[in-house]
Amino acid sequence: MSPEKSRHIPDNVQSYNNFALIYDQIALSRNHYERQANAVCDTFEVLGVSKSARILDASCGTGAVVNLLQGSGFEQVKGSDGSSCLLALSGGERSIQQVLWRDLGDAGRGDVDAIFFAGHSLPHAEASELPQIFAAAYDRLAPGGWIIFDMRNWVETEAGLREPNRATGIFEPLPEILVNEKRLWLAHRCDYDKDRQKITYRYGGGDYSQSLDNGFDEILLEYSVFSRHSACSWLKAAGFDEPKELSIPNWSYLFIAAQKPTDRER
Ligand SMILES: C[S@@+](CC[C@H](N)C(=O)[O-])C[C@H]1O[C@@H](n2cnc3c(N)ncnc32)[C@H](O)[C@@H]1O
Repeated sequence: MSPEKSRHIPDNVQSYNNFALIYDQIALSRNHYERQANAVCDTFEVLGVSKSARILDASCGTGAVVNLLQGSGFEQVKGSDGSSCLLALSGGERSIQQVLWRDLGDAGRGDVDAIFFAGHSLPHAEASELPQIFAAAYDRLAPGGWIIFDMRNWVETEAGLREPNRATGIFEPLPEILVNEKRLWLAHRCDYDKDRQKITYRYGGGDYSQSLDNGFDEILLEYSVFSRHSACSWLKAAGFDEPKELSIPNWSYLFIAAQKPTDRER
């Protein structure tokens, strides 16, 4: 891959680098990794992705879901992610690599049967980048391979597509977390700026109201808001067959899956 292409680290990846330990603790406190691994296994079952398939978790973060899938009998699961700090929490797993999504096709060709992005990951990319990322995933997949990602089931409102039942513009408390044996309070706020959803996490030690005077930290994560219809048309433009939408029990996001044809090049 060209150094030019990979030099710029996307802002969200930088946020995950700054936020890695806290992100991991939030995920653990919500049983997020187990729930995601179960949802991904259910999706594989619906699509017929077998236990011997070569699988890439392309937003593997700490690698926890890679480990859980390996433990569930998937024999050839690898992970990649853009955040060096989240990857560092994987404990140096050899099946895990640092790769940005735009470089997926340069990191290998035709060497995987399923690429998945789960836990509302892919919408971190700008909508304008998604056609290029889908093309890179297409190049990475073997013929007949699946691209699978999840996205929010946005609802249409007067202001545009929005997350249902979520307050905007106010910090809402989340359960406390323990990081390096230090108890932290945590709150988050949702805002929209056109077709971007912005989630700010604010956190600090000690008492919440005192911290507001004494100091706290904030991290911003942004998500592109786009319709399922747009996602499906970008996939088809990249060469994939007609996409499928899958609602998986106990998983709040919607999975979209599309297969690389076995018989034609893009
Ligand atoms: C919502 S987290 C999900 C991580 C993991 N799948 C989970 O559920 O815990 C999104 C992940 O996408 C990764 N990411 C964001 N933008 C990326 C990019 N352009 N290339 C590679 N990884 C990226 C982040 O580093 C982060 O690990």
